[in-house]
Amino acid sequence: MLEALNPPPKDKIIELMAQFRADPRDGKIDLGVGVYKDPEGRTPVMRAVRAAAHRVIEAETTKAYVGLAGDAAFNEAMTALVLGDALDPARTASVATPGGTGAIRIAAELIRNTAPEATVWLSDPTWPNHPAILSYLKIPQTSYRYFDATTGEVDFDAMMADLAGVQRGDVVLLHGCCHNPTGANLSPVQWQAVADLLLEKGATAWIDIAYQGFGDGLDADAYGTRLLARQLPELLIAASCSKNFGVYRERAGILMAISGKGADTGVVQGNLNSLNRVNYSFPPDHGARLVSTVLHSDDLRAEWAEELEAVRTSMLGLRTQLAEELRRLTNSDRYDFIARHRGMFSRLGLSPEAVAKLREEHGIYMVGDSRINIAGLNQHSVPVLARAIASLDG
Ligand code: LMR
Repeated sequence: MLEALNPPPKDKIIELMAQFRADPRDGKIDLGVGVYKDPEGRTPVMRAVRAAAHRVIEAETTKAYVGLAGDAAFNEAMTALVLGDALDPARTASVATPGGTGAIRIAAELIRNTAPEATVWLSDPTWPNHPAILSYLKIPQTSYRYFDATTGEVDFDAMMADLAGVQRGDVVLLHGCCHNPTGANLSPVQWQAVADLLLEKGATAWIDIAYQGFGDGLDADAYGTRLLARQLPELLIAASCSKNFGVYRERAGILMAISGKGADTGVVQGNLNSLNRVNYSFPPDHGARLVSTVLHSDDLRAEWAEELEAVRTSMLGLRTQLAEELRRLTNSDRYDFIARHRGMFSRLGLSPEAVAKLREEHGIYMVGDSRINIAGLNQHSVPVLARAIASLDG
């Protein structure tokens, strides 16, 4: 049987991680996978999360199963973190999942089961695992234009022109904040226009929110998600705790399904539980319990919010520094968009040849589409990157 296997499709982010690790050069710079790094290049356990881990271990008396939906305290705290008081919690069904990716996978299976004819619309570009999961599940997918590579901004006219083709019952996947890979995000006015369009089309919105707190702040980053939750009859939300709680390897995430009139939240909840069951039975608990402990303790929550804010502002500082260096070295405003972008990533608009040259000649690793992880930089490596980019033109 196994001899019949073909090599699996490649994932450019995972491949780049391996390439970086294999590079023996000192001074190589990793701007690839979306993992936060402090100025020393470490990905620390957040102080509040470490303190929560001690509390969890001390309080834990059993490792018995919790429930198919995960721990209710985690689901409740995460629903409140993402949705605030945007709507009646009774409309929301939710399951804990292995990371945000688990939530995306369960959402995709829910869509396939309940609306097999629906086409899922993805931004072009998007996180490569979105189309990969949909393709694997053989879910019809198409894309809408999103990014203007010349200006580095959202090409909103093109986006809306493409979304005009959405059919009733289709699903539109949107990045809640900190768009991956571009770093270009919708304004409040643009979110409203998208909400109006989805309502008019009778389409279902699906939000992937993996970087809440990394852009403009915890509440500001949830603006679009909350707006859609208030105005649309139904909404799917895949949220990740990997980045904003720094619990990457613990795999903590949640899928929320908000239903409208005519839908029975209990039935929606039952379907989510059942999808967890057939995929991996009970969702992982430890990471979710750390997150829940932080969110339910006033002291830990305050400390976590402070740490997250420091991460956010440090990335903003690096953005400003890089944009200024590039302005000075290229004598142009071509890269000013880096300071306007939000979140962990910016797409620089370099050619694949330029990306390869940066990797081969300078040991600077970024994804082939020229996405950089801002958090992979520090004050000292910003000028190195800026000089290398400026040298491309010469
Ligand atoms: C990324 O985009 O780099 C992150 O979301 C990590 C991943 O799993 O791809």
